[in-house]
Parts: sequence; C-alpha cells; structure tokens
Amino acid sequence: MKTAILLLLCFSLLSCRREAEPTAPAPQPITSDQQLFTLITRDQPFARYGLFPNADSVVSGTLNGSSAHQPEVRVLMNSTAIRALPGGLPQEGLSFPDGSVILKEVRTGGVASLYAVLYKEVDNPLAGGGWLWAEFRPDGAVVFSIERRGAGCISCHSREDGPRYDHVRTFERQNP
Ligand code: HEC
Repeated sequence: MKTAILLLLCFSLLSCRREAEPTAPAPQPITSDQQLFTLITRDQPFARYGLFPNADSVVSGTLNGSSAHQPEVRVLMNSTAIRALPGGLPQEGLSFPDGSVILKEVRTGGVASLYAVLYKEVDNPLAGGGWLWAEFRPDGAVVFSIERRGAGCISCHSREDGPRYDHVRTFERQNP
C-alpha cells in the first residue's frame, strides 16, 4: 500500500514537472527576403532600435572598405544584439546571439536610401558566417538577397577588426 502511494506521488510529481516546463515556441528560421523585411519593419520595427553604442550616429565613410556605403551611415541594433555588449563594448571572440539584428541606414542628405541588414541565425542554411545578409530599399525592394549568403559582403566584413568581432565592423568606429 505504502509503495503504491509512493509510486502515485512520484508519477504525479513527474507529470507536474512536465507540465510546468515552458513550451518554447519552435524557432522560425527566416526563409525569404520578404520575411526579413517584415521582421525589421513590422514585427521588430527598427525605428525602435538603439544606436550602435559609442559610435557616432551619422558619419561619412572613412574605414577601410567603407566606401561601399557612402556617403552617410547610421547603424542601429535591436535589443537582442545590444544585450551582447555589456557596457557597449565587444569582448574578444564576440558572438552575437541568434535573433540579433544590426541595421545600417545609408543616407543622403538625411534621407535613407538603403538598409543594409545583418540578421543572426547560425543554423539557417542561408547564413554566411552565422548571419543573413540583405539590402533593401525603404519601400522593401530587394537590392541584395539573403539567398546570396553574403557573397561579396563577407570578404570585406572580414577585414580589419571583422574577424575579432563576429564580422561587425562599426566597432572600428567606436569612440575611445
Ligand atoms: C568594401 C567593404 C564592404 C562591403 C563589400 C560590404 N560592407 Fe558592410 N560595412 C563595411 C564597413 C567598413 C562597415 C562599418 C560602417 C561603415 O564604415 O560604413 C560596414 C557596416 C555594415 C553594417 C552595420 C554592421 C557592421 O558590420 O558594422 C551592415 C548591416 C552591413 N555593413 C551590411 C553589409 C551587406 C549586407 C553587404 C553586402 C551586400 C555589405 N555590408 C558589404 C564594409 C563593407
């Protein structure tokens, strides 16, 4: 009798534990440019992102290779990305967590003409160096598709401090 009660207790405890476990939503990999554009404009609108920490908000290209994004840039990141930078600074061997978005607005005369986007999703088959790489016009037109897996982007993002900081190059612009 005692054993039966004990067994019953064990079973009910076990089932309770199982129920209490949070059911994490299944991760939704990004599979299209449209999905990524919707993420940055509707689900997690970049207008609410923070500025890249300790970097000038608007600068003209001066870094090695930054002529790719003339004439003015403004780099923003979502909260997932910002949380990876305690004190706003990168650690050696930095790796941004999945779901991080880093977005660079290219502006002419204060008006954005292009959004260059990095979206971290390490296991996504479309990722290059752990990121999805895209460029959009403000109306959503695709300039550079995630399907190209960062071809042409990654080599330049591997220059200078890129390899130390997860291919992110604005760290070179951080104020001391
Ligand atoms: C010729 C070099 C070069 C190429 C090619 C290049 N980038 Fe960049 N990118 C940079 C530099 C340098 C920065 C740092 C900010 C700046 O100076 O503009 C940067 C910044 C960025 C940022 C802000 C995050 C960061 O790394 O600081 C994004 C997003 C970005 N680039 C996306 C892209 C995408 C997408 C492509 C390919 C379509 C691309 N870049 C191609 C040089 C390059």
